[in-house]
Amino acid sequence: MTARNFPEDFVWGSATAAYQIEGAATEDGRGPSIWDTYSHTPGRTRNGDTGDVAADHYHRWSQDLDHIAELGLGAYRFSISWPRVQPGGSGRFHQAGLDFYARLVDGLLERGVRPVATMYHWDLPQELEDAGGWPARETALRFEEYASGIVAALGDRVHTWTTLNEPWCSAYLGYGSGVHAPGRTEPAAALAAVHHLNLAHGLAGRVVRELAPDAELSVTLNLHVVRGASDSTADSDAVRRIDALANRAFLGPMLDGAYPADLLADTAAVTDWSFVRQGDEKLIAVPLDVLGVNYYSSTLVRTWDGHSARSDADGHGASAHSPWVGADDVDFLPQPGPYTAMGWNIDPPALTELLLRLHREYPGQPLMITENGAAFDDVVSADGRVHDDRRIDYLRRHIGAMADARAQGADVRGYFVWSLLDNFEWGYGYDRRFGIIRVDYDTQERTWKDSAHWYRHLATNGQLSVPDSSSVGVGVSS
Ligand code: FCB
Repeated sequence: MTARNFPEDFVWGSATAAYQIEGAATEDGRGPSIWDTYSHTPGRTRNGDTGDVAADHYHRWSQDLDHIAELGLGAYRFSISWPRVQPGGSGRFHQAGLDFYARLVDGLLERGVRPVATMYHWDLPQELEDAGGWPARETALRFEEYASGIVAALGDRVHTWTTLNEPWCSAYLGYGSGVHAPGRTEPAAALAAVHHLNLAHGLAGRVVRELAPDAELSVTLNLHVVRGASDSTADSDAVRRIDALANRAFLGPMLDGAYPADLLADTAAVTDWSFVRQGDEKLIAVPLDVLGVNYYSSTLVRTWDGHSARSDADGHGASAHSPWVGADDVDFLPQPGPYTAMGWNIDPPALTELLLRLHREYPGQPLMITENGAAFDDVVSADGRVHDDRRIDYLRRHIGAMADARAQGADVRGYFVWSLLDNFEWGYGYDRRFGIIRVDYDTQERTWKDSAHWYRHLATNGQLSVPDSSSVGVGVSS
């Protein structure tokens, strides 16, 4: 084992999202979101699961905040449900909804925990989808209005405002492959959604700057580490194309102030990008105090030869429609294990690689891991505990990989484990458990898994022991 020490000001946190934990879907005037509609549509989610009750956090928030405090965490990343605070997505704000988040933020501050609020973690008000959803420019303008309402209400008490969570998923899974709400499969609409999400980020970022000048501004991206099956020109080109769709479609406008030319050329047969108006890219490039990175696994691609069997193993859910708009000639290859219960490969060095790339390409840009964690098939033992050694091993190795990047200069300031609690894992429903705290969905009882005890130890003393061996998933100890 090698010891890694983190400085005292390093932020240890945990993350959740409104639709995944809150429940109370129709309570206190909350309106429907696209995820309510989608999860209530037969065949869309595993076992027909919905977020109607979820982890009942709407009623148990105070107890959940106690867990965060007992874990010794310095920050909590949660999301605000747009349809709870502005049910139809436009017009008047709903006081009961704003009050819920005010209580949550104050409750965190009372416990000495930094509130990190995500404005949008995928629960678009259904009325806005009915009016066109993210492929419509108007949705970005509605988002600006929504941001003004929540920042005016909570602004200076929230330490960090994160505009969007993983716009990649909202655009390509929501409008490309349809495995996420609203379940549309329209390639051109997916690219229009990419742009309007980027625009929404820029507009909301300016709202934060204006109304809460002391708050930090961030966005969370699920950046992909894309590797080629070989060094051939064809496979290198597959890497470039997927990197453009997955990463540079967001990093470009947000951090460089422009869409990459190769992305526009690669997708020219799908759209002419005329929805990008003059001045948009400048608006989107609002300087970020911190860039949030979500990382779970890596991606292996090749250029398809046109006849051999395809794998399409991109880990983003089964659909007859690809989320990789305009890249039908790219195939996604299965990767060596071990895997988590999501079927995602475990690849900690790729996290180091990703952070060092960001450090190289955006020197001076502070970074934060805003999500990292693993689903495993947890078992409650006879002693009533969950001995989730594999989750501990996953966390240990990824936090070690982050430490490696820090040692090489990457300015990574914090780490948020996904997730605080077991929760509604989107299309997988309650079948996948990511929490460090177990939720018994019959009783809503919370039980600390071994990983929670382990994480508490790390968060309170800042010392990590990382195994020296490069093999993953063996030799686990807590
Ligand atoms: C991320 C999401 C988060 C959760 C994890 C497992 O893509 O942001 O809500 O579903 O994956």
